[in-house]
Amino acid sequence: MAPSSKPPLMRQDSGAPIVDNQNSETAGQDGPVVLEDFALIEKLAHFDRERIPERVVHARGVGAHGYFIANGDFAGLSKAALFKSGKKTPVFVRFSTVMNYRGSPEAARDPRGFATKFYTEEGNWDLVGINLPVFFIRDAIKFPDFVHALKPDPVTNMQDMNNQFDFFSNAPESTHMLTYIYSDKYGMPINYRHMDGQGVHAFRVINDKGETHFVKFHWVSQQGVKGMDLKATHAADTNYATADLYKSIGEGNFPKWDLYVQVLTPKEAAALPYDAFDDTKEWLGVPEKKIGTMVLNKMPDNYFQETEQAAFAPGVMVPGIEPSPDKMLQGRLFSYADTQRYRLGVNYQDLPINRPLVKVQNDHQDGVMSIRPRKGHVNWQPTSRYDDPGAVVDETNPGMGIIRAEAPQNNRNNKSRYAVSGVVLKQAVHPTDNFTQTGEIYRSFSPFEQSEVVHNLASDMKMVKSHETKVRFTSYIYRSDKTYGENLAKALGLKIEEVKQAADHIPQTQVQ
Ligand code: HEM
Repeated sequence: MAPSSKPPLMRQDSGAPIVDNQNSETAGQDGPVVLEDFALIEKLAHFDRERIPERVVHARGVGAHGYFIANGDFAGLSKAALFKSGKKTPVFVRFSTVMNYRGSPEAARDPRGFATKFYTEEGNWDLVGINLPVFFIRDAIKFPDFVHALKPDPVTNMQDMNNQFDFFSNAPESTHMLTYIYSDKYGMPINYRHMDGQGVHAFRVINDKGETHFVKFHWVSQQGVKGMDLKATHAADTNYATADLYKSIGEGNFPKWDLYVQVLTPKEAAALPYDAFDDTKEWLGVPEKKIGTMVLNKMPDNYFQETEQAAFAPGVMVPGIEPSPDKMLQGRLFSYADTQRYRLGVNYQDLPINRPLVKVQNDHQDGVMSIRPRKGHVNWQPTSRYDDPGAVVDETNPGMGIIRAEAPQNNRNNKSRYAVSGVVLKQAVHPTDNFTQTGEIYRSFSPFEQSEVVHNLASDMKMVKSHETKVRFTSYIYRSDKTYGENLAKALGLKIEEVKQAADHIPQTQVQ
C-alpha cells in the first residue's frame, strides 16, 4: 500500500540532502570508489562505531517505562518528595541477567537485576536491586574476584563450574544466596514480571524532623513469583524474558509491583544478633509495610538510546535517602558512576534517558559530548559576578557577596548527621555467622523445593573436578543444615564422614 504522505528526504548528519543511498560514487563504471563520496564514508564510519562497551556485569537486559504512586505511608520516615501521598513519579526500570554477554540466553541460573530510576522533582533516585533479598559476598573488595570466577573463563571464554565453586568453596558467606539461586522459584524466574525486586542493602532515611531510620526496600510482584524447572529452562527461547515483557506491555497487560519497606531505628538495628548492614543477611521477622505501587506501561521507542544508555547508580539519591554503612553498598557508590563515565562518557547524565526532570546547573565543564546548554563566563565558585548568565550559587554562597562558613543548619536538603568512632582498620564484618540464615531459608522451603535445590546444586557441582572443592563447599551446606548437607553429599556421591570432618574444621570465625 502506498504511504499516505511522502516519507522525509534522507540527509547526511550535516543536514545536506542524500540524493542516492544505493550506489557508491566511482571513478567511471569500473573504477575505484572515490574518497569524495562523503555520505558513503560517513555512513560506513558511523556503522563502524555502533557498539559501545557493554556493561561489565548485567550486560543482557530489557527496560520499560512506567510510574510509581506513593500511598503516603513513608512520608513520615523520609522527607523525599516522591513519598508524599498520591505523588506520581515517572520511572524507568531495567531488568537483567548478570554474568553473561549482551546477547546471551536469558535462561541463566543467575540473580536478575531489577534497577529502577525514579525521575523525582528533587532529582533522580536509583534503586539498583536484584530479585533476591541477599548477596553472595559482603565486602566490595571481593566483587571483582567474585565476578571473574563466575564470568566466562579467560582462556576458554566459557563459564566454568570449576571456577565458580572454587570461589564459593572459599567464600562461605555465599551459601545463603546460593540456596536461593539454586531454587527454581528464585534462581530461574519464568519471566521478569513474575519476580520480586529487593534493594538488598539497608538504607538510611531521614525525615523532616531530622530523625533517622534504617530501611530495606522490597518490590512485591502483583503477578506473583514463579520459576522454571531445569526442563523448562533448557527449552526456553534465548529471548524469552524480553519477549514476554514486550508482549505483555504491548497487549496492555501492564505489570505492577507494590513497594514495601522494613524499618528499624538505629537502636533496633544495633540490637540484631547479626550485623544489620551485612548484605548476606535478611532482616528475618521484621515486618514490612506497603508504601506505594509501580506500573510499567510503555516499552522504549529505541533499545540502544534508552535501555543500553540507561545508567543506574546506587549513589544517585535525593534528600531523605542516604547510604547505610553496608560495605558492599559503600563500594557500589563509587563503582557505578565510574564505569558509566567509561562506558558512556563523562556527560552520560545529560543523555535523555538519564537526564533528571529538574534543570541541572553547576560548573562542570566540557568533556566528551558536552551538550547541556551553558552560557556566560563564570564557571567557578565563589564569585561576585552574579549578573553573569553562567553564575550559580549554593547555600554557603547564596550570592550578593555573602559567603557563609558552612551550610545552614535548618536546610531541608541537609544530609543526616551521625556520630562515628573507632580506629581505621581492615577487618571482616562481625558477627560473621555464615550459616544460620542459610539453614533457616532451606527449612522454610517446601520438601519439593528442598529437593530441587539439592538436585540443581548437584547437577552443577558434578562438573567440578576437584574433590576437595566439592567436600569443602558441601561442608558449609552441612553446617547450615544437616539434612541439606547429607542430601547434597549423597547426590554428589561424597562420603558423609568426610563432609562432617570438613565441617568440624570450619573456623569459628566463619560460624559466629
Ligand atoms: C560492591 C559490589 C558491586 C559492584 C562493585 C557492582 C558493580 C556493578 C557495575 C560496574 C555494574 C555495571 C553498571 C553499568 O555499566 O551501568 C553493575 C550493574 C548492576 N548491578 Fe552491581 N555491583 C555490585 C553489587 C551489586 C549488588 C549487591 C546488587 C543488587 C543489590 C547489584 C545490582 C546491579 C544491577 C541491577 C545492575 C544493572 C543495572 C542496569 O540495569 O543498568 N550489584 N554493578
